[in-house]
Amino acid sequence: MKCRVCRGPAIIDIRRHNANFCTEHFLRLCRDQVAKAIKEHSMLAEGERVLVAVSGGKDSLALWDLLLELGYQADGLYLGLGIGEYSDESGDYARAFAESRGATLLEIDLREDYGYDIPTGARAARRAPCSACGLSKRHLFDEAALDGGYDAVATGHNLDDEAAVLFGNVLHWHTEYLARQLPVLDARPGFPRKIKPLVRLGEREMAAYCLVRGIPYQVEECPMAAGNRHIAYKEALNEIESRSPGAKHDFYHGFLSRASETFRQGIDEEQGALGTCGRCGSPTPAELCAFCRLVEQAGGSQPVELSARRRATGSSDPAPAGGS
Ligand code: AMP
Ligand code: FES
Ligand code: ZN
Ligand code: ZN
Repeated sequence: MKCRVCRGPAIIDIRRHNANFCTEHFLRLCRDQVAKAIKEHSMLAEGERVLVAVSGGKDSLALWDLLLELGYQADGLYLGLGIGEYSDESGDYARAFAESRGATLLEIDLREDYGYDIPTGARAARRAPCSACGLSKRHLFDEAALDGGYDAVATGHNLDDEAAVLFGNVLHWHTEYLARQLPVLDARPGFPRKIKPLVRLGEREMAAYCLVRGIPYQVEECPMAAGNRHIAYKEALNEIESRSPGAKHDFYHGFLSRASETFRQGIDEEQGALGTCGRCGSPTPAELCAFCRLVEQAGGSQPVELSARRRATGSSDPAPAGGS
């Protein structure tokens, strides 16, 4: 197996590119793909400050590393979700990376700062854990970015994630989610710009990137995500990809270039109707925003023991993700 660029020994084959790469040229490919995504979708301008939401998993740590390598001013944000050992370990990986790079990591802890954790909050609000979690993440990422004066929030959603979400949104014709499934959501009053610079790289490449760069990461999946529909969509797409390399890329990037605009018509009017939350001031159509309602419902609830919570709910079935 020889590197496509230098003919030296290759360490990875990427069937989508119909090529193999050595360590040096694989790392270059990853940087180039991120730079290309950033340029193609006008995600960041030179000198802008970006807040990277880091979960301690491979994608967001690789993203943080890649943005630093590309010379961006990138700080990290870790949100402690209170999902038992999984969260404790995830935070350790995020902190270790920040320390190794001398980078700044902001931290928010749901239990300490807001009086609830995901298992408890989900039960109190009668939501699926992934739904309470997604809501908390979106709100707190936005708030931290606005408070810190960052130009954008970056998340580690990769091509596999985006293709799976798109598959689900198309399967059920969630047109309102399709309208917002973009690699960049521009800033608007009360919301920072949101960017997904890994949309040209897959999950396997991100795991290889961390391995090659010596970045330890949380390998475990979130214990509350078992049964999540997106896992089935990923498996279905992996099967298709194995028979037709490049299918995921064409599905997702073809959607962006040829179909996405169609679904966007009309979303601007919808945004005009938003007022502000009486408690936190963020945009919402109701008196209190969904996050403040969740904090209110969850506040003072008895902490839920993790395994009991999982037995009680069986599989979680989150709302399809839109442009979070
Ligand atoms: P997920 O929704 O778990 O698939 O994660 C998608 C992206 O959200 C990750 O790539 C991270 O950028 C971000 N993220 C997830 N969990 C956390 C967390 N606990 N703290 C900060 N960012 C997170
Ligand atoms: Fe949010 Fe698992 S990471 S419920
Ligand atoms: Zn090479
Ligand atoms: Zn609020």
